Amino acid sequence: MQSYHRHLVTHADHPVAAPLSEDSVRVLLDRAMPRDRAPLLLDLGCGQGTWLLRALAARPDAEGVGVDIDPAGIDHGLREAERLGLAEKLRLVTEDASRYPVDRPGDVVLCVGATHAFGGLLPSLEAAAAHLAPGGTVLLGEGFWERPPGPDALRVLGCDADAYDDLAGTVRRVTDAGWTPVYGHVSTAAEWDDYEWSWTGSLARWTLEHPGHPEAPGAAALAADHRTGWLTGYRGTLGFVTLALRRTPPTTH
Ligand SMILES: C[S@@+](CC[C@H](N)C(=O)[O-])C[C@H]1O[C@@H](n2cnc3c(N)ncnc32)[C@H](O)[C@@H]1O
Repeated sequence: MQSYHRHLVTHADHPVAAPLSEDSVRVLLDRAMPRDRAPLLLDLGCGQGTWLLRALAARPDAEGVGVDIDPAGIDHGLREAERLGLAEKLRLVTEDASRYPVDRPGDVVLCVGATHAFGGLLPSLEAAAAHLAPGGTVLLGEGFWERPPGPDALRVLGCDADAYDDLAGTVRRVTDAGWTPVYGHVSTAAEWDDYEWSWTGSLARWTLEHPGHPEAPGAAALAADHRTGWLTGYRGTLGFVTLALRRTPPTTH
């Protein structure tokens, strides 16, 4: 019987585990990677390592290191790297990113959709800063409120209204902490819809294609619950912004 790993199924048809298109990922990486040297990228909470694989494909001189607690995502990323001929330039480690030792500083440190691993936005930036080479760029992806959340959004997301700020407030917190946005991307409604339809649709399709699998009934219920929660709860309310950030020199903030 084919093994079932929910995270791999829900993300089978979407480039990254966040509401960003291939084009958005490409542009953000291009803005973040230095052009004057071979970049080392470190991805904290890398999932299946897709950001790193895209970076390595775009920049043959780049190297990537990714850290995630989910061994299935790491295994998948390593298989993809082999398939794409990129394995020699990629190291993926199964570990808690908040405990990952500062080893080689990264020219680009990514933390996209994984700020919960560090206890929120500002602790994630602090952790990223510890791994960042001088003059390097952090790519930070974080949720924000597109509009004030109603009770249904909060119930479905399982959080309080103060879990996120609005977009301006989110950027203000980042700049107040000593960072300068050098680029940013706000996920569009179409990117969100593609992400959520892919998540719920891949899972629903898997259940239809594996009707006798013991996990199929639970997976079908999860796909339906998630879809309903998104449509009735947080669609249009939860936003997602990915910021390319450089350290603000002490004299200018
Ligand atoms: C929403 S996914 C984003 C994955 C990836 N950054 C991307 O954009 O495709 C969040 C990831 O954070 C990982 N994660 C959660 N807590 C973590 C921790 N303490 N250390 C490392 N990874 C963690 C999860 O396993 C998951 O792969």
